[in-house]
Amino acid sequence: MTDKQDSMNENSKPWKGRFTEETDAFVEAFTSSVGFDQRLYYYDIQGSIAHARMLTKVGILTDQECESIISGLEEIVHDIDRNDFNWSVKLEDVHMNIEARLTDRIGDAGKKLHTGRSRNDQVATDIRLYLRDELDSTIVEIVRLQQGLLDLAEQEADTIMPGFTHLQVAQPISFGHHLMAWFEMLARDRERLQDCRKRINIMPLGSAALAGTSYPIDRAYTAELLGFDRPSENSLDAVSDRDFAIEFCACAALTMIHLSRFSEELILWASAQFNFIELPDRFCTGSSIMPQKKNPDVPELVRGKTGRINGNLIALLTLMKGQPLAYNKDNQEDKEPLFDTVDNLKDCLRAFADMVPAIKPEHSNMYKAAKTGYSTATDLADYLVRKGIAFRDAHEVVGRAVRYGIENDKDLSDMSLDELQQFSDILEQDVFDVLTLEGSVASRNHIGGTAPNQVRAAIMRARDTLSRSLSDLG
Ligand code: ARG
Repeated sequence: MTDKQDSMNENSKPWKGRFTEETDAFVEAFTSSVGFDQRLYYYDIQGSIAHARMLTKVGILTDQECESIISGLEEIVHDIDRNDFNWSVKLEDVHMNIEARLTDRIGDAGKKLHTGRSRNDQVATDIRLYLRDELDSTIVEIVRLQQGLLDLAEQEADTIMPGFTHLQVAQPISFGHHLMAWFEMLARDRERLQDCRKRINIMPLGSAALAGTSYPIDRAYTAELLGFDRPSENSLDAVSDRDFAIEFCACAALTMIHLSRFSEELILWASAQFNFIELPDRFCTGSSIMPQKKNPDVPELVRGKTGRINGNLIALLTLMKGQPLAYNKDNQEDKEPLFDTVDNLKDCLRAFADMVPAIKPEHSNMYKAAKTGYSTATDLADYLVRKGIAFRDAHEVVGRAVRYGIENDKDLSDMSLDELQQFSDILEQDVFDVLTLEGSVASRNHIGGTAPNQVRAAIMRARDTLSRSLSDLG
């Protein structure tokens, strides 16, 4: 083969025609992305197959050329899957590595694949195809975690624990209600991802380098082959836009914030001081020096990974902020933060989805904690208000009763009627209906309230929405 015919192999760049010297070896390594973008190979090849079919449909490739390109590309998928592919830094990125291998394999037809296309629209298409799949499998993990929460919440609807504000005992609540708060956060996370998917599923291919192409391409056909909702509207925007990746990372950051808050509570609750739950041994580790320790490593690590996922979002935002239209090499830096976010988010969700059903609540400790914190003080004030006392006066009466309780080490519900009447003679025997933890919880009986009946109703509604959104997903 003469140098002229030799379009692209390890030792010759596709752009070599214009250059008079070889690329500096360090620059070659510095500018290459194949070390990390090779994981896009499957999507790169799907994109190429669709592109080849489209070129054939419009008469740019013959049927025979198309067939040989497609079978060559399918063999390459096979080679990569089998780890029989020599990724070369000299060929810079996943796109040129695959194209060079194709041409090696099938000859001249391989050189025609890049007609009417650029790596700029190619890479944007690859990332969108990749992220669409990853988003779908992320949603599967969120749903698995949500289902675990629903099952546990149903089982724990009648379990009483203290609810907190300022991490001080505030009012008694149902443990199921607390679990359902986490469910709600995840429901928003799932919705956000589903919405983000709409903006991912738009096809840049056909935008070529930046301005489109002079070939009579059929973009609607390629979009249909690849399952995109439609081709992008503007070629300059399409090759340079990374909003969809940033948006995914923002969704991921919020999901991680939720998992991190969740983690923090699990860590506190598993401590000897709270002792509200026991985490299964298989999700904990021991200490190499302190034999008694059982550490909640999984939630701690999830809380810790939230840092890098927030960092990845900031990295991508900053990557884009100064870029003029259209494609700039800066964009090559989009991949590692995105991949890191996808991998870690899915791992964290998976760990939680596996762990949550195995959480063992310590019912009596939760109950005791609710009882020692004067958590029914608001109920006593509300009772006085119902008997005609102004809320501010009632607040003061109850405050005095709590002070008496602290001095005498007695919960409100453990005081006798005589003792309580020192603070207000309006109090009658029926006050004990609201002073008990059970009475207090049952009285918050409206949509969104903690009454066990309401918690069960909320769980039923949640199961319904979850199964409807699952059937929407297909
Ligand atoms: N490796 C590049 C990236 O990740 C592919 C696109 C390169 N395009 C170019 N004109 N240099 O963004």
